[in-house]
Amino acid sequence: MDDLVATVALFRGKRVLLTGDTGFKGSWLALWLAGAGAEVYGYALPAEREDDHFNLLCLRDRITHHDGDIRDHAELGAFFQSAQPEFVFHLAAQALVRRSYRDPKETLDTNIGGSVNLLECVRETPSVKSLVYITSDKCYRNKEWIWGYRENDELGGHDPYSASKAAAELVLSAYGNSFFQSRPGFGYASVRAGNVIGGGDWSDDRIVPDCLRALRNSEPIVLRKPQSTRPWQHVLEPLGGYMALAASLARDPARFSGAWNFGPDGEATQTVHALAQKIIERWGSGKIEIRGAVSDPHEAGLLHLNCDKARHVLGWRPRWGFDATVSKTVDWYRAVLAGEPAVKVSNKQIECYMEKVDD
Ligand SMILES: NC(=O)c1ccc[n+]([C@@H]2O[C@H](COP(=O)([O-])OP(=O)(O)OC[C@H]3O[C@@H](n4cnc5c(N)ncnc54)[C@H](O)[C@@H]3O)[C@@H](O)[C@H]2O)c1
Repeated sequence: MDDLVATVALFRGKRVLLTGDTGFKGSWLALWLAGAGAEVYGYALPAEREDDHFNLLCLRDRITHHDGDIRDHAELGAFFQSAQPEFVFHLAAQALVRRSYRDPKETLDTNIGGSVNLLECVRETPSVKSLVYITSDKCYRNKEWIWGYRENDELGGHDPYSASKAAAELVLSAYGNSFFQSRPGFGYASVRAGNVIGGGDWSDDRIVPDCLRALRNSEPIVLRKPQSTRPWQHVLEPLGGYMALAASLARDPARFSGAWNFGPDGEATQTVHALAQKIIERWGSGKIEIRGAVSDPHEAGLLHLNCDKARHVLGWRPRWGFDATVSKTVDWYRAVLAGEPAVKVSNKQIECYMEKVDD
């Protein structure tokens, strides 16, 4: 049996708690785990839009979801007590760089304070055997160079979002050293993924939703920083890695606890312009307009991850290259905008991913 298929099968009947299940990555993970037969418990703020992936999938009817704020320790604690999870995936965050400039306190309270609450709840819940704690590739001190950052590189953060993710890393490290390393049968890891794309994301200030909104309305795609370069990967890539890591942490906590990068192969590290161009190609029409403002806040220009550890120690590797990643993403929007049920389209893409089918 393929390793990923075997990993996913391990979650059958397991109690799994996800924070951030109403978000882009969380909704895909919840669907995937629920489809594998896991008992999924989700805790997050309500989905913001009617057409958010979480709503389109009717996840409220498929998993046990609680609308709650990660900044509320008591409420989160009560949810942990009722769920008694074995596996925890922590995804809840204010995840947008530009929003973090508009409201730094919200970002820092959610991403640092909320993560502290999560770690307290894990500490208070002995049923938890495995914690996967999602931060970001932006947790590294960005030197704007071509080399990929490794897990032992320096942390940093120019903007409030990036700093909040670096700080969340330090917080996990402190909990690890102080409490978790001595907890028997418990493994914990932070995971740092690059930019993920895929169907179902309608967030503001993100390149794919911005492109699809423009194409849907037959308007030009406006790019602010066309030469910014990112490691683009399909959302299913890191999620498969997180599941493999969660299962490995439960099996051998000493070996797998620590930090892990999950990013695409080098060919998928591309400029924003190249991504928009590829989206237009797959959609069949559209044009690009460059309109950067001098007052635009600073964002990382060049960011690349070294994922040797995940490849060699975990045996994880990306399955879809840049072309397949973009095609799957555009095809998802096209199908759903044409009226196909999102749950059918998303499940089909999960199936293709597991079967390594890329066209
Ligand atoms: N999308 C990416 O490209 C990317 C890249 C690297 C890391 N990440 C990280 O992955 C995780 C998921 O990202 P995403 O793209 O799904 O983001 P998203 O914005 O789509 O979803 C964020 C989720 O967090 C929840 N949330 C936000 N504030 C909350 C609060 N105060 N209390 C409870 N829940 C709250 C939201 O309700 C939502 O469920 C985040 O930690 C993000 O920083 C994302």
